[in-house]
Amino acid sequence: MADEKKVLFSGMQATGNLTLGNYLGALKNWVSMNEDYECYYCVVDEHSITVRQNPAELRQRARALLTLYIAAGLDPEKNCIYYQSHVSGHAELAWILNCYTYMGELQRMTQFKDKSAKHADNINAGLFTYPVLMAADILLFQADVVPVGIDQMQHLELTRDIAQRFNGIYGDVFKIPEAYLGKVGAKIMSLQDPSKKMSKSDENPNASIYLMDDPDTIIRKFKRAVTDSGSEVRYSEDKPGVSNLIDIYRATTGKSVEEVEKEFDGKGYGDFKLAVGESVVDVLKPLQERVAELSKDKTYIDSIIKNNAERANYVATKTLRKVQKKVGFPERIR
Ligand code: TYM
Repeated sequence: MADEKKVLFSGMQATGNLTLGNYLGALKNWVSMNEDYECYYCVVDEHSITVRQNPAELRQRARALLTLYIAAGLDPEKNCIYYQSHVSGHAELAWILNCYTYMGELQRMTQFKDKSAKHADNINAGLFTYPVLMAADILLFQADVVPVGIDQMQHLELTRDIAQRFNGIYGDVFKIPEAYLGKVGAKIMSLQDPSKKMSKSDENPNASIYLMDDPDTIIRKFKRAVTDSGSEVRYSEDKPGVSNLIDIYRATTGKSVEEVEKEFDGKGYGDFKLAVGESVVDVLKPLQERVAELSKDKTYIDSIIKNNAERANYVATKTLRKVQKKVGFPERIR
């Protein structure tokens, strides 16, 4: 029965151009899991403003991201797809959880350290408490499982710690969520420097495949991808560039490492890179077409935004009221 399903929650930031890493590390898994869970997929626009945004651009990107979720195969009738800023419970719970999170815990977060190095002129308090808002996102929906890429694992651990701390004081209020990492693609690396993750904020556009890149650009970027010395297509620690490309190919084709190594046995890097590029085009082209088609239907997207915000608000408010009561806020008079 639908209401006995476990709960899945995940989200993406509506910032920058989404990359193949976002798709293979997160979105693809969301799609494969969505039948088995009661799912909440959030466009986390509130997290986005921890870095300065152009307002018109943020609004447009947020809508494009919501459309992408649907285009990727998440059915908005069955899954709740919504904007974080449309559900005020996120920010309200985040405030409460801020009071149960230690400065030392937040100071240890690697994403905070990276982002404050990158945006040294704007190390705002929101950037610091970013993981608390993320914890609030997840805990508000009593999520059992949170599919993410490896880079979000530290935030997930913190979410669990905050939830356990709160439950330790007030009893069983929050479900303790588990992270879900896909078997392949949980950490897609830069095409130009395989020691770094592929990131939408990378300044070198050749380092990332953007989900909206056209086929020629995709093929060109793969042709230019950094490989390793030698010429063998083999998965190994001393071949990080080739191993990353093998991972991408595995994720797009479903093939195993052995199958990939066999397929390119005796062939050079050139053939291999072209095949990886083509496999990515095969995945992204239909996705882009579906985005373009869906974007035309303004009324449909608007109705999804409205209905799903209502659903999300309803569920979020239940947890929020429980938490408010536990911490001692006065009851509402009806
Ligand atoms: P964000 O927007 O940076 O990334 C969205 C998802 O994509 C994954 N990802 C990757 N996976 C594999 N390889 C890569 N190179 C790669 N780059 C990104 C991320 O791990 C993530 O799953 N804080 C989150 C958004 C968020 C969230 C949440 C996620 C806010 N609240 C609640 C889950 C649950 C973030 O910035 O992800």
